[in-house]
Amino acid sequence: LKMSKDEIQTLRERKRVKLHEIKDSTLPEIAIVGRSNVGKSTMLNTLTESPNTARVSSKPGLTRQLNFYRCGDKFVVVDMPGYGFAFAKEADKEAWKELIEDYLGTRKSLKRIYVMIDARHGLKVADKEFLTMMGSTSSKKFQVVLTKCDLVSPPDLARTYMVVQEELKKSFKNAMTDRVLMVSSYTGAGMNTLRKDMLFACGQ
Ligand code: GTP
Ligand code: MG
Repeated sequence: LKMSKDEIQTLRERKRVKLHEIKDSTLPEIAIVGRSNVGKSTMLNTLTESPNTARVSSKPGLTRQLNFYRCGDKFVVVDMPGYGFAFAKEADKEAWKELIEDYLGTRKSLKRIYVMIDARHGLKVADKEFLTMMGSTSSKKFQVVLTKCDLVSPPDLARTYMVVQEELKKSFKNAMTDRVLMVSSYTGAGMNTLRKDMLFACGQ
């Protein structure tokens, strides 16, 4: 799967924008969600071939707001705060939940949700809880992307892929179970497929 120059350019021209700047935007949007520390922000940097776009940290819970990155004049990728870490304050947890539910549930220009899952662990309790919450607030389709694939052996990866696919089929009606992707931001594996997939999801 080779990408055209135009497609690559679209992704490179990403620009951080504030919500109010694109409030009434009709540009298609793609949301990146997943457990904290699963590698969402790193994936975004690799995707846009720009190492300093999204801030990355080994400490979970770095991304606390919605971060919008416009890719050329084609679409917007939204880096969302992760779930699964212990909030210090109950009020913070409520604020997080409200932000996520509001965005995923009501955003009209949102075309697809990518749920990042650590390839070493598959679906954890926190993931299942999140997907259940998402299913009750949003009717949007979502896709799973297994991350950090450089840390698992090919047979383990194959096994996790199958288990995740089965679990999605069984329990989550909005899951696109035939489109589970696998990536490593460190080696770049699977990244072009993901780029293509996103452009396709946005109808490019
Ligand atoms: P929050 O913003 O807290 O939700 O985290 P996040 O999902 O944005 O994770 P982030 O991109 O900040 O990465 C978390 C840690 O995982 C960092 O130490 C990264 O260097 C590491 N990491 C990210 N992607 C990969 C990968 O593909 N392979 C490996 N081995 N490590 C990765
Ligand atoms: Mg992040």
